[in-house]
Amino acid sequence: MLQHWHPLCSSRTLRRTPMRILIAGHGLVVFRTTSGAVGLLDDSCSHRRMKLSCGKVAGECIVCPYHGWTFDRNGAGQSPGTPKLHTQATAYETREAHGYIWGRLAGANTLFPTVNAAEFAPVRPLEQILNAPLELVLDNFTEVEHAATVHKYIGYDLSDMHQVRSVVTHTADAVQIKNAGPQKRVPLLVRRMFGIHDNAEFHWEWVTTFSPVMTTYDEFWTEPSSEIPIGVRGRICVFFVPVDEQTTRLVIFPSFRLPWSPLVNRGCLMFRGIARQMVRFEIAQDAKMVDQLADKSIDIDGMKLSRFDRPLALHRERIERIYRGLAIPSGGNHSSLDEASRAG
Ligand code: FES
Ligand SMILES: [Fe+2]
Repeated sequence: MLQHWHPLCSSRTLRRTPMRILIAGHGLVVFRTTSGAVGLLDDSCSHRRMKLSCGKVAGECIVCPYHGWTFDRNGAGQSPGTPKLHTQATAYETREAHGYIWGRLAGANTLFPTVNAAEFAPVRPLEQILNAPLELVLDNFTEVEHAATVHKYIGYDLSDMHQVRSVVTHTADAVQIKNAGPQKRVPLLVRRMFGIHDNAEFHWEWVTTFSPVMTTYDEFWTEPSSEIPIGVRGRICVFFVPVDEQTTRLVIFPSFRLPWSPLVNRGCLMFRGIARQMVRFEIAQDAKMVDQLADKSIDIDGMKLSRFDRPLALHRERIERIYRGLAIPSGGNHSSLDEASRAG
């Protein structure tokens, strides 16, 4: 799985102290050298397996706290006590983008994921830990039915769920879901903030890809009769990072577009601050719900699935083949998915 680019930590949190990151049970240490460069190594000293993340940075190297061996960001290590004794730690490739530090196995043949927020005003990314395996967390985040009961501001009312249209299309590399139906009844203040009214049609559409596992959501409203867009538009990219077999870390990149000029959009700091808190609140509800699952097995045999659950099997197949397996997606974009959608 480490051949895929994963978001590790926000750029602003990585200062002089090295950080330990777990991906699928594999410990990594990420550190920033004095010159500002980022290093990413296995978090286990090749001398006697101390966690390098418990050490400190000195100049361009990380120093193991146990016997003081040093490693540069390319993994070249040496012992101060035996100066001719050299060693090589596994070093990973890193990149800084979208306010985050990303890493993957050096030289892997995978594409850097697209955090697609062109024409949107980004807000500061968020993280959330969920106590469930990757598959079960993705099940929650790619299914609309739970939003009626779990979420406060977004989705559809339970009494309207039977009217919600939910269309699934898929290619070998991606699964797309488009939902549309009458907007959930929310307080007047929230309607004002979103720029919508009581009868607005809410569209909730997303695409999930698997190198790494990520979903890009589009959230927008239209007039029910004319389909003319009204109000705010949201675009949220969520990365699903397995910490271990029972824990998943979400890294969330929200962005919004207000129905005015780009200049006003950029200036609407208050809106973005409130919207970020709303996203945080809603994702915490998902975390609570997933935590209460009676069985955290990812097996779908024995579940009584509804029309909203079609993606479960589609996602599992792609997680196995693309994310956990050796196959690499051919394209890295969704153009073929749009064609399948039109054809279907
Ligand atoms: S274990 Fe790291 S220097 Fe000995
Ligand atoms: Fe949810």
